Order: sequence, then structure tokens, then C-alpha cells
Amino acid sequence: MNLSSRLNSILGMIDSHYEHIWDCCCDHGYLGQAVLQAKPEAKVHFLDVVESITSKLKQHLTSSDYSNERWQVHCKDLQQLRLPLPENATNIQHRHLLIIAGVGGDLTLDMVQAVLQNNPDCDIDFLLCPVRQLHKVRCGAKAFGLGLVNEKIVKDGGRYYEAIHLSTLSEDDIPVVGGSMWDLAKDDHQEYLRQNISHYQRMQAQGNASARKVLAEYMSLQELLA
Ligand SMILES: C[S@@+](CC[C@H](N)C(=O)[O-])C[C@H]1O[C@@H](n2cnc3c(N)ncnc32)[C@H](O)[C@@H]1O
Repeated sequence: MNLSSRLNSILGMIDSHYEHIWDCCCDHGYLGQAVLQAKPEAKVHFLDVVESITSKLKQHLTSSDYSNERWQVHCKDLQQLRLPLPENATNIQHRHLLIIAGVGGDLTLDMVQAVLQNNPDCDIDFLLCPVRQLHKVRCGAKAFGLGLVNEKIVKDGGRYYEAIHLSTLSEDDIPVVGGSMWDLAKDDHQEYLRQNISHYQRMQAQGNASARKVLAEYMSLQELLA
């Protein structure tokens, strides 16, 4: 299957062992199917709230070569998800990775918050790749007590994304404008930084009170280029 560079980069960031990997908001399920192929040790969960999407996907997976013990399709609102605890276990350590990609930043944050609230006894990793509002997502995730594992800038179809791997077990700070993902020797990264700066300059000019502080944070990255 030919994955987009966005989904391929997300796949490449799954570098630990997980027993359960969730393609949340899976839609077409391309990412989950690539995970099925790349991570034979994991059970892959496909979750979407739209029934027509999940029933079509279930039909497709049933006719595939993958054993039905390797995958499960869930028609569910992610905000209602309760992760199953194995018998006699009180905590699932590092066994669930939830990937949430391709939805807006506000919804991504609502989902992460709900998952954390509904599963207080689980250690959970998230791989987030929201559409827009990256600064807000990073600040929110920090406030929920998550820590950084890894981060990457991804360019796909002329558009930039950030893939952010977070964990309830990590104590590493989440930089609100990104940290290790930046390689400002790269033209692409310079362009992405310029786009962020222009965006917050426009917001500041429109009288957005919080834009000034965010702009200063992005500008401080640009100073590294000077
Ligand atoms: C644009 S698609 C993203 C597909 C894929 N993850 C990607 O990155 O290419 C967004 C999907 O999120 C699903 N969705 C939206 N809200 C949801 C929720 N609360 N719970 C589960 N799925 C949801 C929609 O039904 C839709 O299929």
C-alpha cells in the first residue's frame, strides 16, 4: 500500500513494542493496515465513530490475509473509549499506543483529555498529528501532564504537519513551539517556521491578545538562524 508521507512518517515513529496500537479516527484505515503489516507483534484496533466507515473496513479486513485475532474494528466515539485491562491487572504499562491523526487541534485535545479521564489506571502513549493548532495542542497536552517522547516535522502535498509522540510515563517537557524536531539548516523547516511566524503576526495584527506571546516564542527560534 502506498502511504502518504504524512502517514508513513507516523508509522516510522512507532519505535517501541506495543501490544495494542489504535488507529483512532481511522476513516479509510490505511495507517492501521500499514501497522498490521509492519508490527506483527501488535494487535491493531481500527476506531471510527461513523458506522458506514467501520462496517466497510471490517468487510475489507475479513477478506484480507490477516488473522482476525490481529485486528479489531470499533464503531465508537473515541471520547467514550475504555481501554480493556487484562484480568487481575490494575495498570497497563506501555502497552497501548493511540494514534490520532488528521483531525483538528481542538478535537484532538478533547479526545486526549477524555481518554485520559476515562482511563485513569492506564499508562498510555499517544501519537498525534493534528491538522492546525499545534501550539494549542502542545500546551494542552502539557497541562494534562503528558511528556514528550519524540517529534517530527512532516511535509506532505506542500503542507506541513507535526507528528508528536507523547506518553503518560514520560517526564520530558513538551516544547510549546517544538524543540528537537527543528533542523533549521533545512529549507523546508525554515519555510515552516516562516509560515508560523506570518500566521501569528496576522493574528496579532487582528488584535488577538495571546498571539504576541506565541509569536515571540516562534521568533526566538528564528534567532537561532541569525
Ligand atoms: C479526516 S479523517 C482522518 C483519517 C486518518 N486518521 C488520516 O489521518 O488520514 C477523520 C475521521 O475522524 C473520525 N472522527 C471524528 N470524530 C470522531 C470521534 N469523536 N471518535 C472517533 N472518530 C471520529 C471521522 O469519522 C473521520 O473518519
